[in-house]
Amino acid sequence: MDFKRYLVTAALPYANGPVHIGHLAGCYLPADIYVRYLRARKRDVKFICGTDEHGVPITIRAMKEGITPQDVVDKYHAIIKESFADIGISFDIFSRTSNKIHAETSQAFFMNLFNKGVFDERESEQYYDESKGIFLADRYIIGTCPVCGNNNAYGDQCEKCGSTLSPEQLLNPHSALSSAVPVKRKTKHWYFPLDKYEEWLKEWIVDGKRDEWKANVYGQCKSWIDSGLQPRAMTRDSTWGVPVPLPDAKGKVLYVWFDAPIGYISATKELTNQWSDYWCEKDTKLVHFIGKDNIVFHCIIFPAMLKAHGGFVLPENVPANEFLNIEGEKVSTSRNWAVWVNEYVKDFPDQQDTLRYVLCANAPENKDNDFTWKDFQDRINNELVNIFGNFVNRAFVLMHKLCNGRVPKLHIDLMDDADRALMQEIMNSKFKVQNCLEHYKFRDGLFEVIDLARRANKYMQDKQPWITAKTLEETPANQALIDNCLHICLQLTANLAILANPFLPFTAKKMCYMMKVVDRMLEWENAGKMDLLKINYPLRAPELLFRKIEDTEVAAQVEKLRNNLKQAIPAKMETPIKTQEKTTETVKTEAAPETQIALVKKAEISIDEFSKMDLRVGTILKAEKVEKADKLLKLELDMGDEIRTVVSGIALHFKPEEIIGKQVTVVANLAPRKMRGIESKGMILMAQNPDGRLIFVSPLEMASPGSEVR
Ligand code: MF3
Ligand code: ZN
Repeated sequence: MDFKRYLVTAALPYANGPVHIGHLAGCYLPADIYVRYLRARKRDVKFICGTDEHGVPITIRAMKEGITPQDVVDKYHAIIKESFADIGISFDIFSRTSNKIHAETSQAFFMNLFNKGVFDERESEQYYDESKGIFLADRYIIGTCPVCGNNNAYGDQCEKCGSTLSPEQLLNPHSALSSAVPVKRKTKHWYFPLDKYEEWLKEWIVDGKRDEWKANVYGQCKSWIDSGLQPRAMTRDSTWGVPVPLPDAKGKVLYVWFDAPIGYISATKELTNQWSDYWCEKDTKLVHFIGKDNIVFHCIIFPAMLKAHGGFVLPENVPANEFLNIEGEKVSTSRNWAVWVNEYVKDFPDQQDTLRYVLCANAPENKDNDFTWKDFQDRINNELVNIFGNFVNRAFVLMHKLCNGRVPKLHIDLMDDADRALMQEIMNSKFKVQNCLEHYKFRDGLFEVIDLARRANKYMQDKQPWITAKTLEETPANQALIDNCLHICLQLTANLAILANPFLPFTAKKMCYMMKVVDRMLEWENAGKMDLLKINYPLRAPELLFRKIEDTEVAAQVEKLRNNLKQAIPAKMETPIKTQEKTTETVKTEAAPETQIALVKKAEISIDEFSKMDLRVGTILKAEKVEKADKLLKLELDMGDEIRTVVSGIALHFKPEEIIGKQVTVVANLAPRKMRGIESKGMILMAQNPDGRLIFVSPLEMASPGSEVR
């Protein structure tokens, strides 16, 4: 089918925190590459996104921060929007679901289904937290997953095994907001009868020609359909969300997964008066880019909603990526195990394309993948700097040196096989990249681009124009050979800019500047041409496209990750602690350095490095709480020849009076640091159980205070 226009959406991120590189790799970057490619092909495309500002994640965040949900979404909408802009994600609109137009659109959608009698109105008993006066749906309720036994499964989903759940299925359900045991209360909701759409979904996905869909996406859909679809409540009891537009629905809002995908429609309306061309005309190709945890919502529930409403196009494809781990560990936003985009752009200004490169090269397209800072460095240094950057730089430098800074002539009669083969490669690359991008194979597409640069490098290395230059005095005619080589290299550089542009837009722009061509040269139809740069045209001096990433930068980032890691919370600590200022807060202790758990095995060290540590036994003489710091204890330690003050982040684990007289291991030569105005000299070592419990690392028998540990 020939499509007249494209509507590309990227999952609306919850406005409850900044975005991290896993979000980029999973959804936004592939979507952006795809859209930039389509634009370069002059296709009619709209790229839609915005923040998802309703639902439990927002309200929980608000409670944690002690601010209103509106404050939360205002704050994170701005941060997220800026992060995307900084890294070059080129949405046509980045809207928000708290906009008026969205409330209107989603309410009208709801009413359309309501008036057709689509919903089942049902009263049921639901869990209710009496201490908070709140119904516990979705993420408000936590319990044990009946499928995999994970103790921290949510009322809507188990993140460990991916099962979709309802609160009733949880074993041992408890409120996420308080320690209260939930009770059951009656409440009325409107259910969407997914079961009635089962046949249709089966036809559309399973029997229909969905062979273009990725195996992970198709597989999840099929297993959902095979296991039978259930009616699903499309409303919730809450004060935060789009109000249910019915007279008898006070205190009820639309379920966030009902309103959020309609957000794609609202945002398109906001963007253009022609919105209905994009949403309702059959020759629109609708593509939803998402992460794998969103598959069922985009492939089953939303399409069924659209079908029930009628008049809308359905997604042609839903390319969902898997997850990107960091340094071998799953991303955890609550533990702060993540690389945040807003921090990356601060730490690495002008390195947008390098991150885009690494994330695309490592994109978790078919399986979960790992991001490590070492690999970041290796890929940039070995691929972008050494291959791509190096080739472009050499082409420019040599052109300035050997061809007077102008594009040299091509002497066709003198062309050899190598010249012709490389020219052919340019054409081949264009079609290979194009084919990859059309089929959502972004990694492979990127590798083709690098591959072309690699061949170009080899070509130049074989031709060695700088050696030929030495023969010129004797054989001036050899200038023609130099000209041919550099002519081809420069035309190839222009082609590289076009092919790299969807992936590395900042670099492509820089290259246009160096070549003194307008950005329009980057249009895809120009790829494969060998006359992009006019003969005798003077070019600018080269700018470095990429710089090497130093070991120290890598080390600093790994260190930052570890330092920012919040301590895992023992399960029993996950309830509010009454003595805290904010009683609703779930305690997530900020780890003081003493109690950090290393999630990642550390690099090998030599005995010399180890022996730099001065480890000693100390006896706790005094222990007291540090004012206004729930997690800190101030300890006085007998170190034999001195009494030391050490501040330690163990207050949530031990009462001061319990630990007097205990012997502990102290890192005695750690640089002193101030915590809450108290100078801490050294730190004490703790072992941490997998359940989060802390245990002193103590000598088995009494040792003299100050004894060295070796
Ligand atoms: N906010 C959801 C998430 O981050 C995604 C919503 S996508 C939409 O998982 F379709 F609902 F908008
Ligand atoms: Zn599970």
